[in-house]
Amino acid sequence: MKSKLLYIGTIGCQMNVYDTNQIAGVLAPMGYIGTEAIESADMVIVNTCTIREKAEQKAFSFLGRLAKIKSTNPSLIVAVGGCVAQQEGEAILKRMSHVDLVFGTHAIFRLPELVRRIESSRCRIVDVRLSDTIEFDGPVYGPLTDGQVSAFVTIMRGCDNYCTYCIVPHVRGREASRHPDRIVEEVRMRVDQGIREMTLLGQNVNSYGSKEGLCSFAELLARVDRIDGLDRIRFTTSHPKDLSDDLILAFGHLEKLCHHIHLPVQSGDDGILKRMNRKYTRGGYLEKIARLRAVCPDISITSDFIVGFPGETDDQFQATLDLIETVRYDGLFAFIYSDRPHVPAAAFPEKIPEPVKKERLQTLLALQRGITRKKHQAMVGQVRSILVEGPSRTMPSDETGMASPRIRWTGRTSSNHIIHFAVPDVFLKKKELLTGSFVDIMIEGVYAHSLWGRLIHGPICATPGKGETTIAA
Ligand code: 5AD
Ligand code: SF4
Repeated sequence: MKSKLLYIGTIGCQMNVYDTNQIAGVLAPMGYIGTEAIESADMVIVNTCTIREKAEQKAFSFLGRLAKIKSTNPSLIVAVGGCVAQQEGEAILKRMSHVDLVFGTHAIFRLPELVRRIESSRCRIVDVRLSDTIEFDGPVYGPLTDGQVSAFVTIMRGCDNYCTYCIVPHVRGREASRHPDRIVEEVRMRVDQGIREMTLLGQNVNSYGSKEGLCSFAELLARVDRIDGLDRIRFTTSHPKDLSDDLILAFGHLEKLCHHIHLPVQSGDDGILKRMNRKYTRGGYLEKIARLRAVCPDISITSDFIVGFPGETDDQFQATLDLIETVRYDGLFAFIYSDRPHVPAAAFPEKIPEPVKKERLQTLLALQRGITRKKHQAMVGQVRSILVEGPSRTMPSDETGMASPRIRWTGRTSSNHIIHFAVPDVFLKKKELLTGSFVDIMIEGVYAHSLWGRLIHGPICATPGKGETTIAA
């Protein structure tokens, strides 16, 4: 079979990263192999996101740029997938004559057939059919990158919660869970390929299996925890209203479950939460945080916030700041509210002016920066175990004034803190031993979003029969 080059651009969340990998997986048997060079590709797929206005704009500007590439290579197949494709459907074909295929969020497994039709007759196709059940449960996935130690597995798709600001239920369809046997099978296969850390993905993992009468999410975690060769489990995203006692207790007894939870709260004000249709109160949320910390005292907690939701008063925003100070998050993502098509909040009056939204965002981020810095500083002097992911891809700006060592490596703690460290040159010959291993790091400095430390113990210079050697501090 003649091999063809496939470039996939991904915009958006971890779910899209997983979907992109799956797209590569379903197209591989047709001879498509991945390329990073867009100009030499035979097919370009843009996997899009529409959760916020900015993401959608990014998708359209990327697509716009492809027109030029196609004009120099008319045989190029241009395909648009993901949430913008689902939302806009045929309108994309009408608006962009260089696009050949628009496929929605449930059409990934139909891609080989769709692409075959385009290859043979150069027709233009839209497939945005949504289904209430999972028609094809896999496992199907694409290749891992060299030295990749962590990966995602989707355990469910869609969402039934209809938060009033959110487009996800409209573009990803009804909530549907994969069978636990398929999930366990997929994780096992990934572990055999070298994966040490697996993140279970879903819009609302806490309600996993409830609709289909499968096992609970806590039971699924327990099954994944028993997989030999897997070292760490993470999951995202949790809805506070569905965070069960069983799941909270899992943090106390599941050996591989990382001590981190992302628990988006969105707002600290009960009135706003009600109008967002979040179905929990500030008090109920704080109670769950307290229970999590009682079961797992070192758990790190992160969250999502929306600022400038329609009608949000200064006092209501203040309640959000107050919640952040009360919880003292380890990190957070904050977003300026943007209207999305079809969602109820788009029709809510009392829209907040852009400058006010921007100011609130800056205030919130500044508050969290201070909290993160203090929390990071409190970690200085501690020894933490990290799973090494590889050489640093990004060099954090040296705010601390520390001299930048030549070779930096990066890993994560169980609490999801990123730590960079240097490896003495003499050990570089053995560097292949480092990626995917657990090493102990003495934390010595802080950056805005990560930490700096010194390697004090790890499998760098393996000695026969021992497997690891302590590097002199
Ligand atoms: N405007 C701003 N932020 C949004 N989010 C979802 N919809 C919107 C919107 N319309 C944010 C929420 C969610 C995160 C993934 O994106 O905080 O948790
Ligand atoms: Fe959107 Fe709410 Fe569903 Fe999350 S839980 S995907 S915010 S509707």
